[in-house]
Amino acid sequence: MMSAREAILIETSEEKTSDTPQGSPPDVPKLMPGGNYIRIGRDSAKSTYLLFAPPEEEVGVLAKYLNIFKKYDINLLHIESRPSTKMPDLYEFMVECAPSRNLGGAIEDIKQFSQYLQVISRDYRDNADTVPWFPRRIRDLDRFANQILSYGSELDSDHPGFTDPVYRARRKYFADIAYNYRHGQKLPYVEYTKEEVNTWRQVFRQLKTLYPSHACKEHNHVFPLLEENCGYREDNIPQLEDVSNFLRDCTGFTLRPVAGLLSSRDFLAGLAFRVFHSTQYIRHPSKPFYTPEPDVCHELLGHAPLFADPDFAQFSQEIGLASLGAPDDYIEKLATCFWFTVEFGLCREGDDLKAYGAGLLSSYGELQYSLEGKSEYRAFEPAKTAIQKYPITEYQPIYYIAETFEDAKEKMIKYAATIPRPFGVRYNAYTQSVEVLDSKPQIQRLVSNIGSEMSILIDSLKKL
Ligand SMILES: [Fe+2]
Repeated sequence: MMSAREAILIETSEEKTSDTPQGSPPDVPKLMPGGNYIRIGRDSAKSTYLLFAPPEEEVGVLAKYLNIFKKYDINLLHIESRPSTKMPDLYEFMVECAPSRNLGGAIEDIKQFSQYLQVISRDYRDNADTVPWFPRRIRDLDRFANQILSYGSELDSDHPGFTDPVYRARRKYFADIAYNYRHGQKLPYVEYTKEEVNTWRQVFRQLKTLYPSHACKEHNHVFPLLEENCGYREDNIPQLEDVSNFLRDCTGFTLRPVAGLLSSRDFLAGLAFRVFHSTQYIRHPSKPFYTPEPDVCHELLGHAPLFADPDFAQFSQEIGLASLGAPDDYIEKLATCFWFTVEFGLCREGDDLKAYGAGLLSSYGELQYSLEGKSEYRAFEPAKTAIQKYPITEYQPIYYIAETFEDAKEKMIKYAATIPRPFGVRYNAYTQSVEVLDSKPQIQRLVSNIGSEMSILIDSLKKL
């Protein structure tokens, strides 16, 4: 019998599944330091995590639990015991289970003699009590970066590059870069072709004429800095690595390449870590002023400048944090808020309206249209904005206006508090991880941290 206080860490046999990412760099360590010791190399996002606390003073309890998993023929990938996050005097088990149809039965049996049981799973739809899996550490983004809805080289039949084999091969090249990317690596430098630079030139030249009059002051403040530091020129497509490093210095935001379309849940989760999933390819040269999907012009001209602004960065992160573990209907609502702000938002500057949404700042036509007064303007109110329907293939009939990014952020935090989930979350920038706040000791630690920050504030104020 193992002592209740004795920590265990059992790495079970590595699961050999077809989900194991191909082409992983050989130098990826088998175990990540700290945290949960979850093994990279299998697709943990498809595992189910069970957290449960055995009854007090139960002898031989681990064997009892293991028998349940054996009974239901469930392959365990990882078992550990640790202090309970909910009940300070107890310990709990965290078990990672390989995908199995029998899990429901095992969960019911475990519930019978556990003080509590929490399920964290991508397959949360099967069980109303399950919290959808979400990344806890920035490295966890590697686990779903390749769970894309379509690979970047698969084009629809109405895509301008559909019948162009050269363009399709190029798209595959970019998709492969993103597919093999892992957190912590440099973003690969890309040698763009003359034709690609020519497409960029046309877009860049045209949009730049509108920015001084149409873009928000934050965009206009950052844009010259990007020209100075990141190679923003009409004859050069900036490298994601340079832009990402620049953003990291400004706000801690970073870019990571994405191989295709991510689900809203996964895309928003990246924002919680101040990570923006960015495309690296450029639109088809036959239609330089049209793209049916985000491309490098949209990301670098529309999104990147704003992520260098501290208030906007924080606003974006709040949407991401709100999404972690949120039910599906709230993911849709948050994605809608993202659409009407980060993609198509307008903001007030004195008596004027200006654009800060990337969908506007990367579209010569809609950037002008959005400010011509031909559409409806409404104040950004997350609860109302979140349920507004919108078209995706034409100019927006409604634009939402943020008074300031600070104001939008405060509203988003209040809205996030209405999302039903059994815990709070907080981003720890030191460890680049999300802390799940669902127990008294954790809240006490947070209060103590805030206390220290308050002392610094009071001390500084006294010196002013
Ligand atoms: Fe976008």
